[in-house]
Amino acid sequence: MSRGSTTGSARICVTNAKGGTGKTTVAINVAGALSDRGRNVLFVDLDPQGNATEGLGIADAYDAQPPSLFDALTGNPEVLSDIVVEHEEMDVVPSNIDMLQAEHELTIADLIARINTRGLDIDPAILSQFAINVSPEMVTGSHALDTLDRALDTVSGYDYIIIDSPPFYGNLTDTGVFAAQHVLVPALAEATSERAIELLMDQMVALEQQTGIQVEMLGVVANRIETTSEAEMMLEWFGAAFPNSPIWQVRKRVALQRAYSEGKSIFGTEEQCDMADVFNDIAAEFDEKFGYNKVTA
Ligand SMILES: Nc1ncnc2c1ncn2[C@@H]1O[C@H](COP(=O)(O)OP(=O)(O)O)[C@@H](O)[C@H]1O
Ligand SMILES: [Mg+2]
Repeated sequence: MSRGSTTGSARICVTNAKGGTGKTTVAINVAGALSDRGRNVLFVDLDPQGNATEGLGIADAYDAQPPSLFDALTGNPEVLSDIVVEHEEMDVVPSNIDMLQAEHELTIADLIARINTRGLDIDPAILSQFAINVSPEMVTGSHALDTLDRALDTVSGYDYIIIDSPPFYGNLTDTGVFAAQHVLVPALAEATSERAIELLMDQMVALEQQTGIQVEMLGVVANRIETTSEAEMMLEWFGAAFPNSPIWQVRKRVALQRAYSEGKSIFGTEEQCDMADVFNDIAAEFDEKFGYNKVTA
């Protein structure tokens, strides 16, 4: 059954260019909730800082020798299956120190695509001399944002692929959104969040125009809420910005931080946390949307 990708997995990119809004926490716990419901989940850490890789207790993979996700994104999509690491709740594509070069590499790929599309009188091979892996042969379409999509097409058997994205706008984040075409947006109860969400929406529109895809907003996670007034303020903002999207509320809980430092989601720890209900609600909504209606766990 197709769920929006050629491998049949439902793909979701957890994104917001603002740092510290809870992308990694939300991504890990949504993935944990889906796994707890019996789903087979692949988690992709697209952030060069590797917080999720560390948070899921596989920090060694971050320093591992090539090939890594960097190579999968820059001309060698088939290496993806070799770098998947098993975690007790989900499979993980770890980030890697080499991912610090990925934005630069994808920028060169993007320039080569622009040369091809516009028929400019510049030899793309000159640009690839500034690249580590990217060659003109790798860039065949009108843009070069399909590299994660192509790498994910080489793995199958997952109900969901959850992508944790970097805290900045750019090609790397765009490859994550392009591959998933569904976004879940964590945001904090701060004045700066409104602007961050506006910029994110602009970015999605630009990506849609550039590539011809449609990005679907699955919902907002109002995160790290401490007071009722904060919760009300967030509901007002996000409700106005996204009248048709669900808005979930996750309160500030040290249990979420403790689970993270144990290398797990709150569904993988002994400790009880009331926010498990919220993450389960999110997972249930996704199961409904993507047609996984029965809990098999
Ligand atoms: N609901 C929450 N309650 C308590 N701490 C949280 C919560 N959400 C995130 N945090 C903490 O806030 C920090 C930033 O969260 P993180 O998920 O790393 O954000 P991002 O990935 O967007 O940069 C981390 O230390 C994380 O443990
Ligand atoms: Mg993060």
